Amino acid sequence: MKIYRAKDYDHMSQIAANILAAQIVLKPDSCLGLATGGSPVGTYKKLIEKHKNGDLDFGKVVTINLDEYCGLSKDNDQSYDYYMREYLFNHVNINFGNVNIPNGLEPDAAKECKLYDEIIAKNPIDVQLLGIGTNGHIGFNEPSAEFKFASHHAQLAEATIEANKRYFDSEEKVPKTAYTMGIGQIMLSKKIVLIASGESKADIMYKALHGPIMPQLPASVLQMHRDVTVIGDEAALKHIKQ
Ligand code: PGA
Repeated sequence: MKIYRAKDYDHMSQIAANILAAQIVLKPDSCLGLATGGSPVGTYKKLIEKHKNGDLDFGKVVTINLDEYCGLSKDNDQSYDYYMREYLFNHVNINFGNVNIPNGLEPDAAKECKLYDEIIAKNPIDVQLLGIGTNGHIGFNEPSAEFKFASHHAQLAEATIEANKRYFDSEEKVPKTAYTMGIGQIMLSKKIVLIASGESKADIMYKALHGPIMPQLPASVLQMHRDVTVIGDEAALKHIKQ
């Protein structure tokens, strides 16, 4: 595991964007596993800058997002589909036919998860970008009794609803379930880049990287992956000495 200690959020974003950009330059038809939330916004901004400077061509890039809330349409400004267009896709030359995000409006969970499993199986992920929840979730793989391999219909943990309510008018409006890529599929990515910033992530980052590997702390499984790059700012890495 490689750990980059960034000065701050902007520096963290720059390092993450440099890694993703290098991946695209080295392999223009790369498949990128993408995340949403507050952590990757800066990374996407830096990627857009690189594209606008003429340094980055998304023309052949394939993307697979980690997850999507159930019950929100693509036009809902809190859906992850909307987020991806707002923060990245609308500003680069991505081919929208190469973009994959679960359909949060599909009521048949088994059907949607099977479809997503097929998409992931057909498009091996070269680099997976991850944030981490304060409860250790990655994607919407919430703490549970077992690691789930495949895509599934996840019940959001209380801590997740609490953390995400800042984006909604009220807690009641936060969706309670989501479709998410599974832990096994994340672990099949060739490379994983985990980004974290801020004091609120310090404890969970320590436990995820140095604690026991257990499904009650989903991100701890990353200790078993052979190519993980962690990029954290000072606050998020304050308990990690190495
Ligand atoms: P955040 O969320 O980037 O908004 O902190 C991370 C996550 O919940 O995975």
